Amino acid sequence: MSSKQKSEHDFVVVASRLPVDRIEDADGRTTWRTSPGGLVTALEPVMRETGGVWIGWSGDAGPAPGAFEADGLHLIGLGLSDTEVTHFYEGFCNATLWPLYHDVIAPPQFHRRWWEAYVTVNRRFAQATAEQAAPGATVWVHDYQLQLVPRMLRELRDDVRIGFFNHIPFPGYEIFAQLPWRRQVVEGLLGADLLGFQRRADATNFGRACRRAVGLTTRGSTVRVPEPGGHREIQAAAFPISIDAKGLEEMARRDDVRKRSWQIREALEEPGLVLLGVDRLDYTKGILHRLRAYGELLADGRLGPRVVLVQVASPSRERVEAYQTLRDEVEVMVGRINGQYGEVGYSPVHYLHQSYPREEMAALYLAGDVMLVTPLRDGMNLVAKEYVASRFDEGGTLVLSEFTGAADELAGAFLVNPHDIEGLKDTIVRAARTGPAEARRRMRAMRRRVREHDVARWAADFLDTLRRVPAGDQPDAEREIS
Ligand code: G6P
Repeated sequence: MSSKQKSEHDFVVVASRLPVDRIEDADGRTTWRTSPGGLVTALEPVMRETGGVWIGWSGDAGPAPGAFEADGLHLIGLGLSDTEVTHFYEGFCNATLWPLYHDVIAPPQFHRRWWEAYVTVNRRFAQATAEQAAPGATVWVHDYQLQLVPRMLRELRDDVRIGFFNHIPFPGYEIFAQLPWRRQVVEGLLGADLLGFQRRADATNFGRACRRAVGLTTRGSTVRVPEPGGHREIQAAAFPISIDAKGLEEMARRDDVRKRSWQIREALEEPGLVLLGVDRLDYTKGILHRLRAYGELLADGRLGPRVVLVQVASPSRERVEAYQTLRDEVEVMVGRINGQYGEVGYSPVHYLHQSYPREEMAALYLAGDVMLVTPLRDGMNLVAKEYVASRFDEGGTLVLSEFTGAADELAGAFLVNPHDIEGLKDTIVRAARTGPAEARRRMRAMRRRVREHDVARWAADFLDTLRRVPAGDQPDAEREIS
């Protein structure tokens, strides 16, 4: 059990997922291991300093794990029933909001029962947060699964300072307007004092949703929300997320990781060129477009002999229909390419429907010649930043979709519109043929950017801004917005 009692935490992180994995030991006992993801790396120091707590879901249906500690971090695990996993997680989060917010690449489904589950689960998170937060605490809510929490929490606890960060895109109003509950979602978010988005364009889209869906006034990044007897001013701005660049570089430099990267190249049997794709198996990632371009390049031989594409597609949301369909389509296409262009002892695509530890990922990044990050839409895409951070050798080139948040920052990448298959093919060829001096120049610029704007800086920027925004109600006479 947590040593802290209720209502004692000055800093509360609220995210749909806990930053730990459940491990069953040989005797069937449950233990937890912290997952070394970027968010927890960034927030861990603040959590330790402030005795903070992280509220989230373990990822399994069943009773709430409750309060516990893992590696000295205070965690509160909330539970979701089987039906809530179906209606809230797989339904409203991942078959309504996810496709809607990613420019309807897959058709979003709107079901009233799913919405009801979204309200219920958001309320559970808000209540747990209200119980854990100390008077005047700072609360940081994360991502599209919990957009109603800020307002629900404010109604329970108007003394806390609330920040919200949206990790995925916020769509243009014409798309967002399809959501039958658009007004409730915007009002839910507006319970926060500070709203963070990946790109300026996302914050602008949100401002438009405030004006159109709720009829509010905005000025620059400020949204004015009328309250009885006054108003609140909320900031909505861009805070592009990043990674633990130093930690990843240190890992990539390790002898065992470098050795593993040579082994990977050896196992590919003297490849002419190694292309690399690393994605969750998700329709937003543009894997089919990438495979189509690659298949055509094999047909015309522009990449030379014995080129291989190593495509890691880690399993994700496997009970959601659109993900099952995508998996079938990807696997048919991989089979076709290998069938048509392979030989005994040579497969042009190495398709890995698996998840790997971070060490293996770092070794893969080092083994690639050209990294292909070609999503149709992506809030940021941290794989692009991880690749850059791992390349301490300043080798390799990056082909990057214009439709990622990372494209705003990584000026050394070869930018591409993944819908344009001819353009994608030409760009892959260009990236593969870049001379070493030019490749190094590009990689150096990207590495500088990622090193200087790492996840610790992202968290510090957000939390500093949250500390400075005027919290609570302002009397109307005090400040006027034109
Ligand atoms: C994206 C979202 C996260 C989410 C992750 C994995 O990165 O922004 O909020 O946790 O995908 O998806 P999952 O459905 O497994 O939580």
